[in-house]
Amino acid sequence: MKLGSRPPVLWSNSRKTGAARSLLSRGEVRAAPFALGAMATIALALLNTASAAGQAAPAKQLMSEQAFKNVTVLKGIPVDEFMDTMGFISAATNYNCIDCHAEPKVEGDWSVFAEETPRKATARRMILMVQAINRTNFGGARVVTCYTCHRNIQGAPKITPSLAEQYGEPPPVDPNEVEIKRQAPGAPSADQIFDKYLQAVGGAQKAAAISSIVFKGTYQGYAEPKANVDIYVKAPDQRTMIVHTDLGDRTTACDGSNGWMAAPAADKPFPVIRYTAGDLDAVRLDAVLSFPDGIKQAITKPIVGSSSIDDKEVVVVQGIANGGRSSIKLYFDKQSGLLVRQVRYADTIIGRVPTQVDYSDYRDVARAGVKLPFHVITTWTNGRSDVLLTSAETNVAIDAAKFNQPPPSSPPRQ
Ligand code: HEC
Ligand code: HEC
Repeated sequence: MKLGSRPPVLWSNSRKTGAARSLLSRGEVRAAPFALGAMATIALALLNTASAAGQAAPAKQLMSEQAFKNVTVLKGIPVDEFMDTMGFISAATNYNCIDCHAEPKVEGDWSVFAEETPRKATARRMILMVQAINRTNFGGARVVTCYTCHRNIQGAPKITPSLAEQYGEPPPVDPNEVEIKRQAPGAPSADQIFDKYLQAVGGAQKAAAISSIVFKGTYQGYAEPKANVDIYVKAPDQRTMIVHTDLGDRTTACDGSNGWMAAPAADKPFPVIRYTAGDLDAVRLDAVLSFPDGIKQAITKPIVGSSSIDDKEVVVVQGIANGGRSSIKLYFDKQSGLLVRQVRYADTIIGRVPTQVDYSDYRDVARAGVKLPFHVITTWTNGRSDVLLTSAETNVAIDAAKFNQPPPSSPPRQ
């Protein structure tokens, strides 16, 4: 995937100098994607520009046209979905945020995003054009998107077929793009695949006996220093991850029905954002899949097909996130039966935003008699995080408040 090579970014999380971080120049920015949190913190900044740093976010979900100053077409959607549309547009056109928007002179000055630029004007015209194409030709279904024409290439889409491409090596199949239309003939049922997975990790009974886990490890975001991470999970669907960055904690929490992200005030001047729709499905899915036993609760309407990841055959179970609407795919190693990948799609009004989670390094967890993945890499349109776990303690008591809306992040004590 070329994701790693050129994800769009706003500014770097690089903290090489102890000095206050400033926006990097455009060239530098392109090489250094921002990591988890950056996107959410942007939304937060805009949600809470009125409130002083350190104040809790309002519980009410602001719509894009209320939260932002100059939104005229992407209206009527929550702020987190609006930011997903920006990630989608960046990924489709291969432009960084500041290729379309004016570059902030001062870190945390989000007002410049409301300014008009020529490319932003073109993009807005394009959004209306795509809506018209879909309305006139496809009964309003979202069939054509920015990606249909732009294909992650900057500038005008190509108009002439390339003979070099036509006669050259076809690009390798991307297993994420496999779309299963119907259960493959002769394929095992989803339940059989889940049973094999439970068998592979140590047995259904032992897996069912795990009611909570506390993980410790390290979190490596794109172009940011390695940080310690604590992850708390409680069956069936609660999960809180706290990344202890050198600017303060970055917390993602899910209490089973709600999800939030709180990020360092030093990053941007705001506290907490509430997740909705696809982003909420995503945090719940990560919670449910933290437990091998959660596999049967993770997905509804499953159908089974196959593909391969890095030349290894995988079984693909495709369906809908349980309790939500996002489509998801679960990939199991055909031989070992272990869950090796999860792909999920956050729907936005202009396109689907993909996220990929890769699980590896399954290790025996002492006392539990169950294997869990100790290496988890999450890749999305704006960055990638690499989590290496060092310990997993099962069935420890976790304070219920851990899964509540997180408090605003405060700088770490020196
Ligand atoms: C291809 C051009 C393009 C790219 C790339 C892009 N945007 Fe936008 N952005 C727009 C357009 C167009 C609007 C206005 C949408 C509307 O009017 O509904 C907008 C609006 C915004 C706003 C609302 C500002 C306000 O107060 O009115 C924010 C914030 C924003 N973008 C952030 C981002 C971020 C962060 C990124 C990078 C992840 C990004 N954008 C990438 C085109 C772009
Ligand atoms: C049907 C094909 C098609 C689709 C779909 C499409 N575009 Fe375009 N886009 C074009 C063409 C052709 C051009 C070049 C002509 C122009 O600039 O008017 C262009 C130009 C652009 C440019 C200016 C590029 C540059 O640097 O000069 C931007 C930005 C852009 N599109 C954004 C988008 C966004 C955002 C979407 C989705 C909302 C989108 N486009 C969907 C065909 C498409």
